[in-house]
Amino acid sequence: MADHLGEALRVYVTAMGYPPGTESQRAAMWLDHTRRNGWRAVAAFGNGDAGGIGEIVEQTTSPAEVGNAGLLGVAYGYSGGPDQWWQQQVVLGMQRRGMPPADIARATNSYFELTELHVAPHAQGSGVGEALARRLLAGRPEAGVLLSTPETNGEGNRAWRLYRRLGFIDVIRGHHFAGDPRPFAILGRPLPL
Ligand SMILES: CC(C)(COP(=O)(O)OP(=O)(O)OC[C@H]1O[C@@H](n2cnc3c(N)ncnc32)[C@H](O)[C@@H]1OP(=O)(O)O)[C@@H](O)C(=O)NCCC(=O)NCCS
Repeated sequence: MADHLGEALRVYVTAMGYPPGTESQRAAMWLDHTRRNGWRAVAAFGNGDAGGIGEIVEQTTSPAEVGNAGLLGVAYGYSGGPDQWWQQQVVLGMQRRGMPPADIARATNSYFELTELHVAPHAQGSGVGEALARRLLAGRPEAGVLLSTPETNGEGNRAWRLYRRLGFIDVIRGHHFAGDPRPFAILGRPLPL
């Protein structure tokens, strides 16, 4: 991640349509996340046209093996834990909705948080995102996977279509994280995929 941080953040910012400069705000956090329990990342490299999308490589692959191919997509996550802000926010959301404590414990006891999944706009719509998600989640020791994604009208974007295709179901809808006015959905499913 450290070797490819600049490219990975550029993919994230262009895929999400965030203003330029967001990269520098996120850099320290993405590196900090690499130290979390169970952290894993995958990336797709290629020359950018549909026929040239390279093999997906894991974080253990050396930069030399990747060569000069550009980074087309990135995904990472880690084991969820009670000391993490994201889990605390999700648990608050569950409590506010009256979910019984035993159900909350079951949902948050053992899960992989799929934290980021992004494909550069010019490489979207060719199956790269699905391949990244499948590779990232393969062989995980956790009982399930959780993620958050912005709510969008009629679930009408590629992220929603991908998550539904992979069998993710609603955990919380219309959730508000502290400090962010946008509503999010928390989705999850048992592992393995
Ligand atoms: C969400 C996102 C990661 C999905 O990645 P993606 O590579 O675009 O999408 P998928 O892997 O699901 O690919 C789906 C498309 O590829 C096509 N596809 C699947 N396998 C294929 C293959 N082997 N060859 C060619 N096309 C293929 C599917 O038909 C589908 O096309 P359609 O969406 O036009 O119907 C990506 O679109 C993205 O970064 N979006 C913006 C950022 C974002 O929303 N991130 C998630 C926030 S939580």
